Amino acid sequence: MHTAPPPLNTIPVGIDAIGLYTSAYYLDLADLAKTREIEINKFNIGLGQYQMSIIPPNEDIVSLGANAAWQIIDKINPEKISTLLFATESAFDGSKAAGIYLHRLLNLSPNCRVIEFKQACYAATGALQLAASWVETHPQEQILIIASDVARYALNSSGESSQGCGAVAMLITANPKILTLEPYSGTYTEDVMDFWRPVYSDVAFVEGKYSSVIYLKALEASFKNYQQKSGNYFNQIDYFCFHAPVPKLVEKAYKSLLKLNRRDIVAVGGINTAPTDEAIHQKLNPALDYARKIGNTYTASLYISFASLLDNTAADLANKRVGFYSYGSGCVAEYFTGIITPHYQNQLLTQKHQIILEKRERIDYAQYEKWHQFSLPQNGSEYILPNFKTGKFYLEFINHHKRFYSAK
Ligand code: CAA
Repeated sequence: MHTAPPPLNTIPVGIDAIGLYTSAYYLDLADLAKTREIEINKFNIGLGQYQMSIIPPNEDIVSLGANAAWQIIDKINPEKISTLLFATESAFDGSKAAGIYLHRLLNLSPNCRVIEFKQACYAATGALQLAASWVETHPQEQILIIASDVARYALNSSGESSQGCGAVAMLITANPKILTLEPYSGTYTEDVMDFWRPVYSDVAFVEGKYSSVIYLKALEASFKNYQQKSGNYFNQIDYFCFHAPVPKLVEKAYKSLLKLNRRDIVAVGGINTAPTDEAIHQKLNPALDYARKIGNTYTASLYISFASLLDNTAADLANKRVGFYSYGSGCVAEYFTGIITPHYQNQLLTQKHQIILEKRERIDYAQYEKWHQFSLPQNGSEYILPNFKTGKFYLEFINHHKRFYSAK
């Protein structure tokens, strides 16, 4: 049994609002399976994936991020946002922070600082921890975190079925209305080449099986570190959110946590038999529902999973502890927890999120391949983007190597 946890933060700090956005188009994996002559059950059952959002040429990480922030715009007071942290691993500019475009599109104060964060899919968690520490010492200030990514692998590669795109916007405040972060987190870093994207490539390179092994190894290491620091044991965590590159890997991850904690589970009166795969599937399904439809969203993935849990759980989650596993290839991992605020339901955007998903248009394989191969001119010429369906914000044209965004 572990020691009693240290006291919580003196000022509760955490997530006050959360909104998500994904592209208006998706590919059903049945269409990919047919073209690649793969049995559909491999995707639906073997990987737990059904659809993936596909980005049209006139959306990118900036428009996705701005469209996510737009979902929570009535909860954002521009005068209170002291910092905008933009997390991505799909950056198109090695210098300018993509968040600066959002700073303008969202009319934030000129005194608001903007920084871009990168460490593969982990970056939004680094941003969250930094934001929480800042707000703890400056409780009158609020921080906007936007995580936005486009997961792209080469056509006909093993990663192809785990693409996707999406963004999440989170308002980090004192006395948050959704989740108070607990001040303990377990971290793990190791220099590995499981997944990477050189700057000259717009698709990621990946050692798929190896990346899954490292994902699970880093989970175990960061969870143990979390336990050492917090004194919390597994049974004290009520709900689980994971970085979800592939939903089936998340189910395997939960199983490995159960195995790791078997002794503790039994010590507090839990049953010494492992739950069935179906029971695990059911337990994690609310948190995985959006990922099964959107696909991988890299930095946004863990927080889209949290939004999915909030939106798809009928039971009252007030005062429940949620465990978060953040993993960024390369690799950095972090395990942390938070407690859900009473009456959090008043802050949720469940209907908005569901409409975004339901209104998506299904594209066929040929359209998917065309957009996959699309790239903007690189010679500085003017190019006006075709007018595909987007959220409020979209990429209108490029000229002299600059991107220009508009709002509808
Ligand atoms: N019916 C049911 N199940 C079937 C089936 C069928 N007809 N055919 C195959 N399956 C099962 C297999 O048995 C297998 O199950 P197990 O994993 O339990 O053995 C499962 O489907 C997957 O099959 P494969 O292992 O053959 O799948 P794959 O070669 O396509 O690889 C993958 C899967 C490695 C995850 C691949 O999708 C990939 O490379 N994805 C990108 C990398 C990735 O997401 N890595 C995750 C960790 S890295 C990370 O987290 C960072 C990030 O976001 C990228």
